[in-house]
Amino acid sequence: MGLLLKNGEIVTATERYVADVYVEGETIARIGQNLDVAPGTEVIDCTGKFVFPGFIDPHVHIYLPFMGTFARDTYRTASVAALTGGTTTLIEMCCPSRGEDALEGYKLWKSKAEGQSACDYTFHMAVSRFDEGTEAQLREIVADGTTSFKIFLSYKNFFGVTDDEMYQTLKLAHDLGVIVTAHCENAELVGRLQQKLLSEGKTGPEWHEPSRPEVVEMEGTTRFCTFLETTGARGYVVHLSCMPALKAASDAKKRGVKVSVESVLPHFLLDKTMAERLGVEGMKHVMSPPLRQKHNQQALWEALAAGEVDTVGTDHCPFTTEQKLMGKDAFTAIPNGIPGVEERVPLIYTYGVSRGSLGLNRFVDALSTRPAKLFGLYPKKGTIALGSDADLVVYDPAYRGAVSAKTHKTNTDYSGFEGFELDGRPSLVTVRGQVQVRDGEFVGTIGRGQFLRRKPELQHAD
Ligand code: URP
Ligand code: ZN
Ligand code: ZN
Ligand code: ZN
Repeated sequence: MGLLLKNGEIVTATERYVADVYVEGETIARIGQNLDVAPGTEVIDCTGKFVFPGFIDPHVHIYLPFMGTFARDTYRTASVAALTGGTTTLIEMCCPSRGEDALEGYKLWKSKAEGQSACDYTFHMAVSRFDEGTEAQLREIVADGTTSFKIFLSYKNFFGVTDDEMYQTLKLAHDLGVIVTAHCENAELVGRLQQKLLSEGKTGPEWHEPSRPEVVEMEGTTRFCTFLETTGARGYVVHLSCMPALKAASDAKKRGVKVSVESVLPHFLLDKTMAERLGVEGMKHVMSPPLRQKHNQQALWEALAAGEVDTVGTDHCPFTTEQKLMGKDAFTAIPNGIPGVEERVPLIYTYGVSRGSLGLNRFVDALSTRPAKLFGLYPKKGTIALGSDADLVVYDPAYRGAVSAKTHKTNTDYSGFEGFELDGRPSLVTVRGQVQVRDGEFVGTIGRGQFLRRKPELQHAD
């Protein structure tokens, strides 16, 4: 049985027009005015609503052993939360630590998703160590369709790589046609600053930001870009939070370095005063890079509108209040991370498109099309076109609501965005033609989601 989305306003990265979209099986079969369809076709009236391509979150953590505990979502909870918020593809960070075997880790991460996801998914493969066995393992992982890596310049001795390991990873990535995503903070400086602050009795969550100041992120970003320039590899700075780091990446782009920039939901809407709240309220807002001074937000919105910030992810990383309290005696023990996979699309729509100055096309570009293009998913994902996967989001801009941990699907007892107003919501969401969300509620099938095999991009000769 086919599906007809009738009379909605279709929005892609470049176009806006009112039309019908006819879905046959898993793909978009026809787009046009007043389409005739066979009896038995389900017809959804989308008058007054937007029809967006399924959104892609390029940075989430689902299974994550980290800081002595585990992030709380499973693929079931995270994919239902994602779909409720209009995200139809997740790119999860596969993060075995330095002491673990990369290939075994990759298989473990994949096994957590297999048959458990309601939306499609793929991985960025973290390289936490580079030794004699690493190249062969990474080649196998790339051959399996995972064509992006992740490195951490922070979290020394856990996920973090040395400069030499970064060099070897980028060189291999260049040879394989793989893009490398990077968490850019100077590990040595963070370690020293943490020690200094704790020795001065500065133990509360308000000291998390001073332990990872903007210059530390600027240095990491500059160094990553320098290594990209030297190796010719393609890179992607994850969760960029502040202006000095943005300038470092933009300067590199201007001199031809192949680098793209992601900022994540919390940095657009939350600021460092939230982590300065007393006790666990502050701890809930500890993530890395940290929430910054408020003036960075306006600059990030402007850079997003201009395309200087390429994509918006979430860095979804859910911990409960109880887990956050592990850091009650020292901010260095607070599990880092804020959940957001469910709120990214409606909050960026609300505070960017509806109440800000982000254009609708650029909104779709940053949250769907560019992630698809950068990570080898386009045009199967990331647009509304004939033959593309029918991952579609019918967005009702007239809906009014607010974020609340009482109603969210994410597996945490708090939301970092509690009380934020929502202009609109995804009312209907499809994954390869199957309706997974109706009237804002998940009605679909767990296990519908597929692992997306991607191809490397060997486009240049140098
Ligand atoms: O605070 C964060 N970002 N937690 C997740 C791990 C990471 O650095 O992405
Ligand atoms: Zn990170
Ligand atoms: Zn992350
Ligand atoms: Zn090259």
